[in-house]
Amino acid sequence: MSYELIITETRGRVGLITLNRPKALNALNDSLVDEIGHALDAYEADENIGAILITGSEKAFAAGADIGAMAEFSYMDAYKGDYITRNWERVKTCRKPVIAAVAGFALGGGCELAMMCDFIIAADSAKFGQPEVKLGILPGAGGTQRLPRAVSKAKAMDMCLTARFMDAAEAERAGLVSRVVPADKLLEEAFAAAETIAGYSLPVVMMIKESINRAFESSLNEGLLFERRVFHSSFALNDQKEGMAAFVAKRKPVFKHN
Ligand code: HXC
Repeated sequence: MSYELIITETRGRVGLITLNRPKALNALNDSLVDEIGHALDAYEADENIGAILITGSEKAFAAGADIGAMAEFSYMDAYKGDYITRNWERVKTCRKPVIAAVAGFALGGGCELAMMCDFIIAADSAKFGQPEVKLGILPGAGGTQRLPRAVSKAKAMDMCLTARFMDAAEAERAGLVSRVVPADKLLEEAFAAAETIAGYSLPVVMMIKESINRAFESSLNEGLLFERRVFHSSFALNDQKEGMAAFVAKRKPVFKHN
């Protein structure tokens, strides 16, 4: 499939999606988000892909939803068309790990898109923000919900109400990003992380993702029960036999993803 607003590339078992609308700092319009969804469909269906990376440019991961496209919208346009987020949930529903590699601006919907991913690796140039308040709107793709879970109520309120940006160092301290790397090493480091994950047993990786996400949807006891059931089920995998046999034999495991 050929795309207009993204570039896709696979390296080994890693699928890369690069947002490619440079003149608008990767502003997210319907077509761009649809293309991300199609690329995720393809990577999810491909047995040879074990992890997915989403990145932008040096200057911007994405500077938000496309303001020009939204400017003249009426309430009815927004409500009836489920604008603009009708196609955004695809990132959340992806069962394979999705990592955001963020350099430059990740603002508004751009920050929300990054937060939909399983974790964020940030370049030291990254700037995160939810500046919607300046436009007379509020975050609409999870900013008011995922940001407080990631960085605390205090910082989420501060960011959403003042519209100030958070730099990479603060984002790491606050827990929004898992690590910060030099900007010129961002893709290299993100690929290394994705390759590591893609080298493990895919069903186990998916179970880990599902279990961690469960922590945000349930009480501790429900989450622990869920984890225990999934943990028990991992003993049905050939990869569990292989992983443990390899450890005992002091060799590297060869996972077959089943
Ligand atoms: C449309 C955008 C855009 C956006 C930048 N551009 N952000 N177009 N939608 N969100 C365009 C600019 O109009 C400009 O086009 C070009 O990209 C370069 O941007 P500049 O502003 O000239 O660059 P710079 O001076 O470096 O400033 C960078 C910036 C600024 C700080 C990121 O562009 C900015 O504040 N952008 C808007 C950020 C924002 O408010 N995001 C939230 C959007 S609302 P031209 O043609 O002039 O060169 C949102 C709601 C989500 O995301 C709700 C649910 C999804």
